[in-house]
Amino acid sequence: MSGHVSPGGFTGTSPVWLREPEDVNALVPALWPASASKDDDGVLHVGGVSVPDLVANVNTPAFVLDEGEFRARAQAFRDAFSGYDVYYAGKAFLCTAVARWVAEEGLCLDVCSNGELTVALRAGVDPARIGYHGNNKTAMELRRAVHAGVGRIIVDSFQEVERLADVARQLGTTQAVMVRVTAGVEAHTHEFIATAHEDQKFGFSISSGAALEAVQMVLAHDSLDLRGLHSHIGSQIFDTSGWEVAGRRVLALHAHVASELGHVMPELDLGGGFGIAYTTQDDPAEPSLLAEQITRIVTGECAALGIDVPHLSIEPGRAIVGPAMCTVYTVGTVKEVELDAGASRTYVSVDGGMSDNIRTALYDADYSCTLASRASTAPPVLARVVGKHCESGDIVVKDEFLPGDIGPGDLVAVPATGAYGRSMASNYNHALRPPVVAVRDGQARVVVRRETEDDLLATDIG
Ligand code: LLP
Repeated sequence: MSGHVSPGGFTGTSPVWLREPEDVNALVPALWPASASKDDDGVLHVGGVSVPDLVANVNTPAFVLDEGEFRARAQAFRDAFSGYDVYYAGKAFLCTAVARWVAEEGLCLDVCSNGELTVALRAGVDPARIGYHGNNKTAMELRRAVHAGVGRIIVDSFQEVERLADVARQLGTTQAVMVRVTAGVEAHTHEFIATAHEDQKFGFSISSGAALEAVQMVLAHDSLDLRGLHSHIGSQIFDTSGWEVAGRRVLALHAHVASELGHVMPELDLGGGFGIAYTTQDDPAEPSLLAEQITRIVTGECAALGIDVPHLSIEPGRAIVGPAMCTVYTVGTVKEVELDAGASRTYVSVDGGMSDNIRTALYDADYSCTLASRASTAPPVLARVVGKHCESGDIVVKDEFLPGDIGPGDLVAVPATGAYGRSMASNYNHALRPPVVAVRDGQARVVVRRETEDDLLATDIG
């Protein structure tokens, strides 16, 4: 099925997976929103909007968010996982417009901080349809969430169970909770590692008995209503084998709680992590196939255990917003750098960088890009797109073929930057974080404006 082709090294200066394109002007459709195309002049259009026209108004760098693509992906998960609750993971990217689209498409919303909760509430999301995550929620944050009527709080530590029970008691209410467990499965792309124990900050380990202890602790409080277990195994996963192993371990605990403690938990959350295509290496599965396989795993395991299938939920973030956004930059300088053995690399510097996309530096992530403002007849050159920050690791796209005549003033667009791009953006080097411009049916609308120098100085009180 789907997968991630192992790079397996480099040929000369380029990774083996990267092939020189037959037409360097052409888009690779799998990496772009369905609405994206180039016209005869090589101008990129997204959502019916010309990208050069768009940035003529808002400048670069800018995130372009295809509303139709976002909604279509939300719908695809909602429809494929029918009978489940689908929580959009706001950590991937959240603003009030997106929170409204999520609600309009019938999805629930996963927040993992007080700030994300603020955005969700400001957008008018029904608090009952919000799940609240985090490994270190303060009493104040919990109080606010309970007071707001958040539908479920995913507890992550023994201290938090006590803290939350107190808060709910003080507010005279019963709070629905899920217990975040770790199943000893760590999944990343096509590989997963199944171990007996894990060394990380999230959740309660099943194998050590901590998860069962947490369940007992929640059950001991009248102010808490234990809805179920929650298991998130990783990110950018293409294969359901990790869910298979985790599902078996989590459902064994679920069944044990019913048989030994007499409490049938009505729900189970399987987390997010569904992969997307950043480059031609990635071949993500359709939501319908994921739904079919995950449902088969859970129903099969429940049948084997002789228990009813709980009400299921998932939390996709990246797979909904990632491919719906691209980043547009202006090229400032181009430099040819001689490498060993007579090879050379073209360094294309753009007007953003690690402040709007930290993923390349942080995770060694691969991206792709295209010349977005014109067509070129120049032969392709192997290029590296770098930012303008004071750091040599400030790389946006490690390897891509771009037209050999690329130069100052050209626009370069990087697809699939919607997840963990703007949401992980920083003010490093006092960069102004870029705007997010939503496009749909030929209309462009700024949903997050560019920061200004006044924004930068607002917190600097001398
Ligand atoms: N649910 C929980 C409990 C999570 O921790 C996460 C992601 C998700 C859902 C959504 O995962 P997604 O479907 O978006 O993969 N900054 C990293 C990813 C961190 C993911 C953290 N948790 C990156 O840029 O790859």
